[in-house]
Order: sequence, then C-alpha cells, then structure tokens
Amino acid sequence: MQNTIFITGASTGLGKATAKLFQSKGWNVIATMRNPEKETELSQLENVTLLPLDVTNPEQIKTTVAKAIALHPVNVVFNNAGYGLMGALEALSDEQVLKQVNTNLLGVIRVTQAFIPYFREKKSGLFISTTSMGGFLTFPLHSIYHATKFAVEGWSEGMSFELGLHNIGIKTVAPGGIATDFLGRSLDRNSNGAYQEIEDKLFGLVDVMMESASSAQQIAQVVYEAATDGKDRIRYVAGADANALYARRQEIGSEEFRKEIRKQILG
Ligand SMILES: NC(=O)c1ccc[n+]([C@@H]2O[C@H](COP(=O)([O-])OP(=O)(O)OC[C@H]3O[C@@H](n4cnc5c(N)ncnc54)[C@H](OP(=O)(O)O)[C@@H]3O)[C@@H](O)[C@H]2O)c1
Repeated sequence: MQNTIFITGASTGLGKATAKLFQSKGWNVIATMRNPEKETELSQLENVTLLPLDVTNPEQIKTTVAKAIALHPVNVVFNNAGYGLMGALEALSDEQVLKQVNTNLLGVIRVTQAFIPYFREKKSGLFISTTSMGGFLTFPLHSIYHATKFAVEGWSEGMSFELGLHNIGIKTVAPGGIATDFLGRSLDRNSNGAYQEIEDKLFGLVDVMMESASSAQQIAQVVYEAATDGKDRIRYVAGADANALYARRQEIGSEEFRKEIRKQILG
C-alpha cells in the first residue's frame, strides 16, 4: 500500500519541496496550507491532495485531520509551518510573542495531539517537526523564536517515551539556513533604538550566513531520510552550516560556544 505524508505549511519553501520529493518517491501527499485555493503547482501533481490548515486554528486542525485520515491511511505527519520573529524582547508586542508561540510551538503540539489517537489505534506512525539550528544554539535578538524551537526539541524528546509505548515515533529536523522566503515574507521584526547597533550587525551577519544556506530540496532529503530510515533517533541536524555549528558546540560546550557567538556578532 502507498505511504502517506501529511504536511503543514506546504505552500512554499521546505514544506513545498518536501511535498514534491515525497510525491516523486511514490507517496500520497496531503499538503496543507492556509490558502490552498492559491496553490497552482502542487494541485497539478498526481497523488497530492490540498487541504486548508492554519495551525493556529484548533477547530480547523480537528476537521482537517479528520478529513486527512478519511482520505488515506496517514503514516507520517510533518509539522513544518513556522516563521521567524526578530527583535529585542522590549521591542516586541504581546501579540507578536503570542502569535509566534501559537504558530511555532502550539501549532505543532495541537496537530500532533489530533493525530495521536489514530496512530495509537493502528500502532504505528511517525511525527517529524521542523525545528532549526536555533533549537540547539542561539543568536542575539531571536529569543522568542529560540524559545519556540528549543521547546519543540525538548517537547519531542519528552513525547518519545509515551509515544514509544504505542510504536509511534517522533523526530525533529533542525536545519541551518535554507534559501527560502524565510527572511522575507516569513520574518516578523521590530526595532528598538537601544539595540540599533546589534540589529545592524546581526543583519549583516545573517546575509553572510545565508550565502552558505542549503536549498529547500537538500533539507527535504533529510526529512525523507528521517521518515524512512526506521531509526530510534530524535534529532536530524540538516545542512552543512548547522552541522558545523552543532559539532563546534559539542566540542567546546554550550558556555564557551555562547561566548564565541557573542564575540563574533557583538565584537
Ligand atoms: N529558511 C530558513 O533559513 C530556516 C532555517 C531553520 C528553520 N526553518 C524552519 O523551516 C520551516 C519552514 O520555513 P521555510 O524556510 O520553508 O519558510 P517559508 O518558505 O516562508 O515557509 C513557511 C511556511 O509556513 C507557513 N505558515 C506560517 N504560519 C502558518 C500558520 N499559522 N498556519 C499554517 N501555515 C503557516 C507558511 O504559509 P503561508 O504561505 O500561508 O504564509 C509557509 O508555507 C519553519 O518552521 C522555519 O522555522 C527555516
């Protein structure tokens, strides 16, 4: 029987590249997005079904997950929807903070929760969430983004015990820079004059870092590996940049690594 993957945030970037890769490997793909009526490419592909899903809408999560399960036996749920939030904490509104947590963290938790009874009954299934290298290391002025991505890493590890009782897996894919619209349409930011100097430095550095970014297709390959390797493993660090930084942090420890980042960015 054909395998099926359910993807959130499949309208662009990594979500869309993952939809195309799995489709090309013969999977059924349930590609969810906020505005499926606008999608013109995935809708042309065989075995791809588009469904509406805003991951901050708990009611829509319930109805879309029910529709997905009725369509195909789902094997893998890929929690990918997310965006960046940049700015000093005192520059951010409560609304901005809530929206980031609602999307990047609670969206993942709620979509997962909606699928668990189904996976438990069939005694199989796998959750994969897109975190980030920002889920195991930090840069200045991204504290809320890091809070959500560190949270998804820790939550996934914590969930592995109860899900393991029912033969359900949970994994994270932690990419470095990906050449997508993330720094354009998917970055919410606010400035505050008291942090102007770091903001300028950081933006210069982000541009340099994005020069070594992976393509969305390269990171989608890691999602495919995580979905199909059958390993009892949680974290898949994805991309040369993320792997180099991960190795450096392991080598010198988190405290020294933090000082190194501070020196590099703040001088
Ligand atoms: N690009 C990077 O450098 C990078 C690095 C590390 C991790 N990541 C992570 O990779 C994931 C995908 O990002 P990307 O790089 O592919 O950026 P992207 O091309 O901008 O895609 C972001 C996707 O998330 C969707 N989304 C945002 N809020 C949503 C919501 N409330 N409900 C449903 N979908 C929502 C967007 O949908 P709409 O089209 O409706 O806006 C879009 O499909 C994110 O979790 C991001 O944190 C990205």
